[in-house]
Order: sequence, then structure tokens, then C-alpha cells
Amino acid sequence: MSATILLLSGPNLNLLGEREPAVYGTATLTDHVATASEAAALHGLSVVHFQSNHEGDLVDAIQAARGTHGAIIINPGALTHYAWAIHDALAAFDGPIVELHLSNPNAREPWRHLSVVAPVATGSIVGFGGHGYRLAVEAVAAVLER
Ligand code: DQA
Repeated sequence: MSATILLLSGPNLNLLGEREPAVYGTATLTDHVATASEAAALHGLSVVHFQSNHEGDLVDAIQAARGTHGAIIINPGALTHYAWAIHDALAAFDGPIVELHLSNPNAREPWRHLSVVAPVATGSIVGFGGHGYRLAVEAVAAVLER
């Protein structure tokens, strides 16, 4: 199996660092990708990152990960709560899948409590801010036994 992890970031995550810092912190998406990449290197893994504000682009990336990447870590942003096409694309991926959120959606507005990604994820890491990127990689490494 491939030693690469596909890290996917959904809508508005490109604005991290500027966007609602009281909720999402001051680190940028580039900072979080660096955290994930450093954690992956400790396990002989590497991270390929892709961010899009468009659901279809993320579906394409998930489909292309089949047979290419060993695992997926995905923070789908608001798509988490309604994007069934992302649910279906992830269901067709064979490796471990980690759903990742900086905030804890379950502790926020009621419309954030539903995740359509959670049922097809191996597990979810929510509410630990930027530390979640390292935790997500650790979870993948554990499942892949690396
Ligand atoms: C988020 C939580 C989502 O509800 C929200 O729409 C985001 C960010 C998070 O990382 O906490 O865009 O995925």
C-alpha cells in the first residue's frame, strides 16, 4: 500500500489564520499541512495536500486517491454537514479515513451536529485545533501499523 496520505481541505479553509480566529485559531492552512507532514515523516509517510472550495473537485480528488494514496485525512469544512457526494466518494476508498475538524462541531450550532462524513470515516478527530493534524496522522500510522 502507498505510503502517502491525501490530506483534503474543504471550503474556506484557505482563509485559516484570518477567518474567525477565535474559533479556528491563528495558524494558517500551510502551518497545519507542515504539522501533518512532520508527523508523517516520523512514520515514513508523506502527505499530499489539496484544498478546494468546490465539492466536485474534492470528489475528483477522493476518486483519484483510489489505488494512489494509502489513507485520507479530510476536513471538509461546511461540506461535512450536507455533501452526500463526498460521503459516497469516501465510501469507495479502501484505506483508513480520518475526519478532522479544528473546532468541535458537536458543541456549536445544531446544523453542525450532523456529519455525513462520519459514517464512512474510520474515526473522527474534532476540537483539538491544530494539534488535530498531528493526531490524525498518528491515527493513520497506527491503523497502517507504521
Ligand atoms: C470545520 C467545522 C465546520 O463546521 C465549518 O464549516 C468549517 C470548519 C472545522 O475545522 O472546525 O469550515 O470543519
